[in-house]
Amino acid sequence: MSQPIGVLFVCLGNICRSPLARAMFSDLAQRRGVADRFDIDSCGTGEWHAGGPADPRSIAIGLKHGLAFEHTARQLRPIEDFQRFRVILAMDRSNRRNIIAMGETLGVSPASVHLMRSFDPTLAGADERELDVPDPYYGGSEGFQQMYDMLTRACNGLLDHLLAVGPKA
Ligand code: 4NP
Repeated sequence: MSQPIGVLFVCLGNICRSPLARAMFSDLAQRRGVADRFDIDSCGTGEWHAGGPADPRSIAIGLKHGLAFEHTARQLRPIEDFQRFRVILAMDRSNRRNIIAMGETLGVSPASVHLMRSFDPTLAGADERELDVPDPYYGGSEGFQQMYDMLTRACNGLLDHLLAVGPKA
């Protein structure tokens, strides 16, 4: 059995977007019987919420769709995380810039840091400006439903991609 593919979902606070993405992707991999092929986690570039739970609105949107998940927020740990995870998913462009900056002195290839929605097959060929999963933190509940829908398509596409071609950029 080859080593599991490390997949790290990253957002800003690690309480709204990336915990839900991690839970969704784990759930999909389990349903398809391939969970043991992946080492999956999430984190944030910021430290404000480290040690705390997921945002209740992310938990609620998961539950509404039958997805229950546990979560304790943590900040990105560059040395450890960039070694362990070969596939890094940023939720938006600002997030990706921050991740790449945090990995710069560690020789992290920007090509290993992907925009999450670049794996949404319905967005193939779209301009990068259309690929953000917007931060829902300061908005209303419709932002959380929109986030859920975006992450569903992107997680399915990401899993298809990793099963077909592996972790190559
Ligand atoms: P997330 O959302 O990055 O999807 O977890 C946010 C949560 C908290 C904050 C920003 C974004 N904040 O500024 O505290």
